[in-house]
Amino acid sequence: MSQLDYHNDTLTFGGQALTAIAERFGTPCYVYAERVLTEAYTAYRDAFASLDPLICYAVKANGNLSILQHFARLGAGFDIVSGGELARVLAAGADAAKVVFSGVGKTADEMRMGLEAGIHCFNVESVNELVRLNQVAGEMGRRAPVSLRVNPDVDAQTHPYISTGLKDNKFGIAFDTAFDVYREAAALPHLDVVGIDCHIGSQLTDVTPLIDALDRLLALVDRLAEAGIVLRHLDIGGGVGIRYTDETPPDLQGYADAVAQRLAGRPLRLVMEPGRSLVGNAGVLLTRVEYLKLGEAKNFAIVDAAMNDLLRPSLYAAYHQIVPVVRHAHLPPMKVDVVGPVCESSDFLGKDRTLAVKEGDLLAVLSAGAYGSTMASNYNTRPRAAEVLIGVDGQPRLVRARETLEALLANERALLETH
Ligand code: LLP
Repeated sequence: MSQLDYHNDTLTFGGQALTAIAERFGTPCYVYAERVLTEAYTAYRDAFASLDPLICYAVKANGNLSILQHFARLGAGFDIVSGGELARVLAAGADAAKVVFSGVGKTADEMRMGLEAGIHCFNVESVNELVRLNQVAGEMGRRAPVSLRVNPDVDAQTHPYISTGLKDNKFGIAFDTAFDVYREAAALPHLDVVGIDCHIGSQLTDVTPLIDALDRLLALVDRLAEAGIVLRHLDIGGGVGIRYTDETPPDLQGYADAVAQRLAGRPLRLVMEPGRSLVGNAGVLLTRVEYLKLGEAKNFAIVDAAMNDLLRPSLYAAYHQIVPVVRHAHLPPMKVDVVGPVCESSDFLGKDRTLAVKEGDLLAVLSAGAYGSTMASNYNTRPRAAEVLIGVDGQPRLVRARETLEALLANERALLETH
């Protein structure tokens, strides 16, 4: 991770000692570095510069308002999947005209919200959704801009839970029927058919499946043009994978060049929806060791962060590096499972890690900026962690206060009182 260094055996991130962050804001705590967010965004912008793409940051990766605001200021659009995410991006000052609305189950209310706001387009995933959107738009006296999410049936070669472009995934419109669905869409009076999109999976470390998907989409674009349906944009879906441990992320420029070569001479605006690669390595989860539990079969470092804070290891067996915030020269390393206090054996952040730790030490779980805080829950009535953003000036700012127990109970308490 860039911006992460030891100075005199103390880990710093974005120029700040993580010991100082823990002291000031407590643990568990997500810490983000603004500089890394900017670097990640500009890497996309620069690599794809010749295509002047609309880069729609996928809010689901990390929806913190300050992060959204930062990307909005850099000129990003947003990929949203719910009315809640729409409210978030609008609150962060996003330009609605740069928002694409993905997702397989949009409600009529969410469609209304999108139309009201004037979003760039709805990425539609089924015929029934087209029919509903047409009706909602008609009732509002509007035309809804639509793109069809085509399922290209290519194997993204990633974890099955985050693979989305295969025939048996719930996502998108089957490639073989897409042409007919476009004709149906074009015939609906309150829809404006403007684009095509796909998303085949996340954490891709090879771009070949992405390019295969693009080729399939372009063949369909040509066939549609011959039938008089001329599309204005092509949305290639999510971004590339990141380095969690020893992965080699694809070369962004190589990917961009391959896309540019295929789009050359076509009047199609490129849209993309990267999430993980814009925020993943811009964040760490800071946690403190509460207990060491040393046993015959296993040693455990029981920390104050848990699966409710960072679900990825439990859900996908995802690997996140875990490093000490203060390096002890004289403490012997041992093999430990780093686990949380939640009452589940699946509550672990890392297994069989070699660490020199003692009780009270701070640990940093790396590459936790994407799908970390957004997938957090209140399981075991654990308040959600604080979030801190370290600015380019090196100054930390609290961008999400630690949830209070009072707030956690508030909705239920109100109901109790009515009985
Ligand atoms: N667009 C659509 C329609 C998506 O479904 C996704 C992610 C993205 C864009 C962003 O893809 P990215 O650039 O982040 O690869 N929770 C899982 C990841 C789920 C991804 C779902 N879709 C994880 O923690 O690995």
